[in-house]
Amino acid sequence: MKKLVTSILSLALAAGLLGAAAYAAEEEHDLKEATEHAVANAHFPILKPKNIDWSFAGPFGHYDKGQLQRGLKVYTEVCSACHSMKLVPFRTLEDLGYSDGQVKTFAANYEVQDGPNGEGEMFTRKAVASDHFPSPFPNDEAAAAANNGAAPPDMSLLAKARGVERGFPLFIWDIFTQYQEGGPDYIHSLLTGYHEPPEGVAVPEGTHFNPYFNASMSLAMAKPLSDDQVTYDDGAPQTVDQYAQDVSAFLMWAAEPHLEERKRTGFMVLVFLVIFSGLLYLTKKSVYANKEH
Ligand code: HEC
Repeated sequence: MKKLVTSILSLALAAGLLGAAAYAAEEEHDLKEATEHAVANAHFPILKPKNIDWSFAGPFGHYDKGQLQRGLKVYTEVCSACHSMKLVPFRTLEDLGYSDGQVKTFAANYEVQDGPNGEGEMFTRKAVASDHFPSPFPNDEAAAAANNGAAPPDMSLLAKARGVERGFPLFIWDIFTQYQEGGPDYIHSLLTGYHEPPEGVAVPEGTHFNPYFNASMSLAMAKPLSDDQVTYDDGAPQTVDQYAQDVSAFLMWAAEPHLEERKRTGFMVLVFLVIFSGLLYLTKKSVYANKEH
């Protein structure tokens, strides 16, 4: 009896393993086919971004401050080595729950150029709260030269500037579901989507295969994140997936800091319109109450 149970169990295990291997192979094959199709039609990305359940989605969406603080940490420790955020002043970090003093201390870690001074010379000084996140490179040419010819884009509006065509019928649903998270979905998928190129697919020298990149099959940015790279002190998992979600949410906040207000106002406008329509209807009824039809 015991033997029978063991053999059934081992058979089941073997079948499971085989199944998993077959599934992986199928995915690999699909990716190769999808890549060839995308290249032939010059239509990217190869894979559509995954939809993440963001706290700021929907009509009552709001930012999760803990997540934004973690995202800031990922941006500061990893992305800011290459990407600037020139439109975002340090003082807006107070939105994330930091005090005036904390923002000043944070800003003082950066150096910005100022001037000219009395002698007509430009000089560098420690950043203050009203300064903006500076670029790590002196100019775009230097940025491109340091990154295989592709300058890392400024991140101030990146979460709003990127998104992927959703196609019919999704784009119709999006009107009703108020889907506006194409940017952060794209960034999250891009950061977690690095992959060995499928067999037989050659990527241009100095670029890295990523089926979620929306301009080509590979990009000049190497995989920037790996597990345990950034230390979180709130107990959130230190995984690439978590880092990618946090930094995407942070970039959404950077691009649209007043999102919560906009959604709140939109909702109040709708409530007003419903009440106003009711009042109009009642007015119409009473004005024409004694008229013959
Ligand atoms: C070593 C430098 C470097 C680091 C670090 C880096 N990037 Fe990049 N990034 C680049 C370069 C270069 C490009 C331009 C790639 C291209 O156009 O081929 C880029 C492009 C991007 C893009 C735009 C892709 C598009 O659709 O055009 C996103 C989004 C992005 N990076 C996010 C991040 C995030 C988030 C981080 C931090 C976790 C990060 N990057 C860290 C160099 C870097």
